[in-house]
Amino acid sequence: MNTSAADLKRIIHLLSEIYSSLEPEEVLFQSLKGIVSLIGCEAGSIWELSEEEGKLFFRAIVGRGAENLKGKSLHLGEGIAGSVAASGKPRVIDDVRKSSEWNPDFDRASSFHTENLLTFPLKSRGKVIGVIQLLNKEGGFRSEDIELIENLAGPVAMALENARLYLFQKRLFKETALALATAIDKRDPYTGGHTKRVLEYSGKIGEILDIEGNELEKLELSAILHDVGKIGIPDEILRKKGSLTEEERRLIEKHPEIGAEIVEGIPGTESIVEGIKYHHERCDGSGYPDGLTCEEIPIFARIIAVADVYDALTSERPYRKALSPQEALDYLKEREGQKFWEEAVRALLSLFPVGK
Ligand SMILES: [Fe+2]
Repeated sequence: MNTSAADLKRIIHLLSEIYSSLEPEEVLFQSLKGIVSLIGCEAGSIWELSEEEGKLFFRAIVGRGAENLKGKSLHLGEGIAGSVAASGKPRVIDDVRKSSEWNPDFDRASSFHTENLLTFPLKSRGKVIGVIQLLNKEGGFRSEDIELIENLAGPVAMALENARLYLFQKRLFKETALALATAIDKRDPYTGGHTKRVLEYSGKIGEILDIEGNELEKLELSAILHDVGKIGIPDEILRKKGSLTEEERRLIEKHPEIGAEIVEGIPGTESIVEGIKYHHERCDGSGYPDGLTCEEIPIFARIIAVADVYDALTSERPYRKALSPQEALDYLKEREGQKFWEEAVRALLSLFPVGK
């Protein structure tokens, strides 16, 4: 590995330590689940306060209809959770129907019937960062429940803070990886914007193939970093306009392995590394570096290969004009199953009305 590749490896490793840690959002959810069962109530939620937006967002929900509430928000001061976030003072309400602040919209959305509740502020360094709300305890919430929550609010607030930091770091890693990959892209004047487009197509194909959540994020990172190994290829070869010698071609074909070497070793990133290493493999075994066949090629690599080839074909090169989207889709369709994974080609076709 040359110096720039080694530097890049250090930067990527530093930024991606996040992938080796436990998912803090899962920790938050498990804590809430534990509290709901400990208190013996029916449901609970943890809200995060976004100071910039002046809004509260659900971060964890336990109980019936929880799925329908994801993504919903409250203004600071609105409803009971909003007023607890604004005042920083806990509230116990024995009968929500008698409270003028109670907002029944969330019950309607989740087909839940709230009777009583306990809402407690979550603070970090004296500042409200969110609230925890517990719903429906038979006979109502008592002073010992408040005492218990008082003791648990500190660790829950810490878990919320961690989840917040985790999401921030994940975004930071993705954006930095994209900036690095784009910088590498720019060394080759003919591939401008390639990384962003491969990221976009790969993400969309992944979604169509039901890849979601953390896996989708990993697919996107793999797509961002797929050509990162080009940092190890000298400019005069990367930018060469004429045809390549056998030796130069062999060197260029090393980029998936160089890229994999840069990223590998970070726990939890195995699928990202596979996507990078095998994105030039082809279903019939004619690809490189290992000549794998379709079933042997990891899924991320099969998806990135289709996105990569589609973008390469529709972009102008020194030795040929760009194909139209229809011509590129026809090219892939003719080779599906033989060179490219059928399901990824079909998913790409469904994205473009012309290809159907
Ligand atoms: Fe590549």
